Amino acid sequence: MDRENSSFLLSFFILSLLVTEIHGNRQGEALNNLHKSKFRASSQIDHKSEFEVQELADDSILHSQKGLKEKDRIVRLPGQPLVSVSQYAGYVTVDNFAGRAFFYYFVEAKHSKETRPLLLWLNGGPGCSSFGYGAMQELGPFRVNSDGKTLYKNNYSWNNVANVLFLESPAGVGFSYSNSSSDYKTNGDKKTAADNYLFLVNWLERFPEYKNRDLYIAGESYAGHYVPQLAHTILHHNKKATKTIINLKGILIGNAVINDETDSTGMYDYLASHAIISDKAAYALNKACDISSDNITSECEAAVNEIQKDLDYIDLYNIYAPTCKNTDLTALPKKTGIVTDPCSENYVYAYLNRRDVQEALHANVTSLKYDWEPCSNVIEKWVDSSSTVLPFLHEFLKNSLRVWIFSGDVDGRVPITSTKYSVNKMKLPIKTVWHPWFAHGEVAGYVEVYEGNLTLATVRDAGHQVPSYQPARALSLIKYFLDGTPLPGPRRHA
Ligand SMILES: *[C@@H]1O[C@H](CO)[C@@H](O)[C@H](O)[C@H]1NC(C)=O
Ligand SMILES: *[C@@H]1O[C@H](CO)[C@@H](O)[C@H](O)[C@H]1NC(C)=O
Ligand SMILES: *[C@@H]1O[C@H](CO)[C@@H](O)[C@H](O)[C@H]1NC(C)=O
Ligand SMILES: *[C@@H]1O[C@H](CO)[C@@H](O)[C@H](O)[C@H]1NC(C)=O
Ligand SMILES: *[C@@H]1O[C@H](CO)[C@@H](O)[C@H](O)[C@H]1NC(C)=O
Repeated sequence: MDRENSSFLLSFFILSLLVTEIHGNRQGEALNNLHKSKFRASSQIDHKSEFEVQELADDSILHSQKGLKEKDRIVRLPGQPLVSVSQYAGYVTVDNFAGRAFFYYFVEAKHSKETRPLLLWLNGGPGCSSFGYGAMQELGPFRVNSDGKTLYKNNYSWNNVANVLFLESPAGVGFSYSNSSSDYKTNGDKKTAADNYLFLVNWLERFPEYKNRDLYIAGESYAGHYVPQLAHTILHHNKKATKTIINLKGILIGNAVINDETDSTGMYDYLASHAIISDKAAYALNKACDISSDNITSECEAAVNEIQKDLDYIDLYNIYAPTCKNTDLTALPKKTGIVTDPCSENYVYAYLNRRDVQEALHANVTSLKYDWEPCSNVIEKWVDSSSTVLPFLHEFLKNSLRVWIFSGDVDGRVPITSTKYSVNKMKLPIKTVWHPWFAHGEVAGYVEVYEGNLTLATVRDAGHQVPSYQPARALSLIKYFLDGTPLPGPRRHA
């Protein structure tokens, strides 16, 4: 099962500095083609123009959702341990004419689901699956065993504190599809936000009990674009309608791509300060590569190739984690802890491609011609990717939304240095100075709070996918976030 060369999208993007998401084997060549997609002069990706909300034709937004909720109920997933949570999965059509439908998986809170908030989780890529990563390897109620056919329980699932909705987006990701193949050539930030919005309003029709519920949107990596862009879209439509169509209360983004220039500088500084590349190489790179220009010089290319040699054998997304040595499934489940196994992507791949699993999930009802992949093989092009989302973060603070930015501090891909540099760019006065925060009797990370209540929090010893590597700390973090209470410092801890 070698999916190393599987993704056109990934090879296309992969290692353009900006694009990110994981994947054991797939990230191998990280940075190789740095700047070559988004930043080369001939780039077809629009990163110059600002993100704009796509207006909607009012009469085609809502589709009847009658009776669909009960059809989406999951009786039981194959190989699932007995737990009493209600789960739903299925498709929501976002465009009738094109035949575009998005797949979601929804798990309700273990207790008090009637009063707990609704949390939408998005993974990045672009092109990677929030179901395969977010739900099955990070914060969902189950993880897949090494046999590829049974599941085990994740005690630190975020449905301990919220009703959690996972969305595969845009069209071409996971089970989400379009009947018009041209859709796979026109995906980009703008269309993704517009479709995610259409998904959400229709999903809320299907689950009307959540219509007025507090909504939070969270995500990691390239969802540093998706989350703020969707939140901005929601504010835009609420304002235009002069009423609350969607009751958005806040956003939470982790190891997030938010500002090209600082994301880039922060990465080389992190790799140099963590003894992965030489200071000289980082200096050469920062000097030779001007991210704000379209021009990739031969000096820049040489500098990139030089440091690439140092990155080939580690997992850049958790610089201290073991890598997957054997991708085979095992006949019986390996005994496993709750920290994600480095080969888990292979188990998830096997599980989600089983016919019985797809039937239980009400997925792939149109017999798609390709398999389920953690990151899309069918999306051929990404048409726009704005260079920054920082103006949206300012907008959210002005509108009193809760904004938390977190960072697993051993991720080398979108590291804490990048996040710090980006937040510094916002020039917000400090409200609570940098200090450790605690969970389970230990320092769980560090936190600084800025005026307007923007919170920047690290999660200690977590890689890019924070809930995979530090499930208990991640659950504490989301709990404080949803409660709207500051992370506990030394005094409250003592
Ligand atoms: C896509 O086409 C299939 C086959 O014609 C059809 O069953 C399905 O409903 C279509 N999907 C959408 C979202 O219209
Ligand atoms: C989850 O919690 C239960 C009960 O507290 C415990 O028996 C089980 O071992 C825990 N599982 C994991 C994976 O931590
Ligand atoms: C790129 O750099 C080269 C060499 O410095 C220069 O000749 C060329 O005009 C630049 N192109 C752009 C688009 O800036
Ligand atoms: C959908 O089902 C077909 C068999 O009907 C299978 O060949 C294909 O791999 C599946 N695709 C996805 C995305 O699940
Ligand atoms: C910030 O949080 C504090 C305490 O939770 C609250 O009293 C205050 O109104 C918030 N400020 C803003 C601008 O939202």
